[in-house]
Amino acid sequence: MSGNSELGFRELLQKSIVDGIRIENPVILKGQYRRAYDLLKDSIDANVTPCLVGPPGVGKSLLARKVAEDTGRGFYEVFFDENMTPSRLIGAFDPALVVRRGRTVESFEPGPLMRSMVEGGLFVAHELNRATEFCQNSLIAPLEERHYHLYPFGMIKAHDNFAFVSTQNPIETSGTYRLSRVLVDRIGCWIRLGYPDKETEKEILRVNAPAYNLAEDILNKIYEIVNETRQHPDLEIPASPRAGIFLTRLVDRYLDRFDDGGEAIRFFAPSVLTKEMRVRTPGKTVETVIEEILQKHLG
Ligand SMILES: Nc1ncnc2c1ncn2[C@@H]1O[C@H](COP(=O)(O)OP(=O)(O)OP(=O)(O)O)[C@@H](O)[C@H]1O
Ligand SMILES: [Mg+2]
Repeated sequence: MSGNSELGFRELLQKSIVDGIRIENPVILKGQYRRAYDLLKDSIDANVTPCLVGPPGVGKSLLARKVAEDTGRGFYEVFFDENMTPSRLIGAFDPALVVRRGRTVESFEPGPLMRSMVEGGLFVAHELNRATEFCQNSLIAPLEERHYHLYPFGMIKAHDNFAFVSTQNPIETSGTYRLSRVLVDRIGCWIRLGYPDKETEKEILRVNAPAYNLAEDILNKIYEIVNETRQHPDLEIPASPRAGIFLTRLVDRYLDRFDDGGEAIRFFAPSVLTKEMRVRTPGKTVETVIEEILQKHLG
């Protein structure tokens, strides 16, 4: 690689630095979302830790981000799995700086939890139920006492605005771990999100595609097909609003290539919708189930 392109990359990198991610499309606060948004905000204000529970792609992250934006809080998030450690969560001393300065405030590299505690941000623990016991233990004091004991400084007190939100998939979904008793006891408000009603979901599709110009009957077809996967007895994990958005984007953008909307849906739907679906009936595949559904709605 030439020196020039290396310089080019660094300039571009510098220009690409932004303060944070902002929500780009409108957030639809109707139906279940209005209630969930209000509950989320109310519990944060009352210092009751909330957990957003819902299947993949229904808007849990978006709601948390929206509350952070509306209340002027920085947004920090962590996706828990077995590789997440307390020191990645809390932070750690930079060994090179410790050699020069010792264990001082300057040589401490904060993790997202410590940062949000100190700055008064909103911290989202995604899939908290997948956190290791070590991580779960290091969350108890910040949750309950709004403090963290950080050696060698002593107690770190959280900023008044610090808010902790967790998210998880419903426990009924196979493969979902159970949250430890100690953490369950400290989460006070369980906010359930399911699949939105028809009008709300169509609006979500419209604002995210963006498909403001997509004919109503095409949008209806997309909704009906996506919704059918949720009623279908063979499907354990159906298509999410996120999958519906992807399908709407493709259909909207490439509609000209097809004779009609139905043909466009038929072309894209199998590749978009089968991705996150799971079949529970032996002998059936996601492909055959999708084909049945498309046949029913598109003929
Ligand atoms: N009420 C809403 N208004 C506008 N867009 C929405 C709404 N709810 C969901 N969406 C859109 O649906 C998509 C999925 O939402 P999001 O990523 O928040 O889901 P999630 O529940 O966090 O999913 P996962 O469990 O996979 O993390 C996003 O593109 C989001 O913008
Ligand atoms: Mg999410």
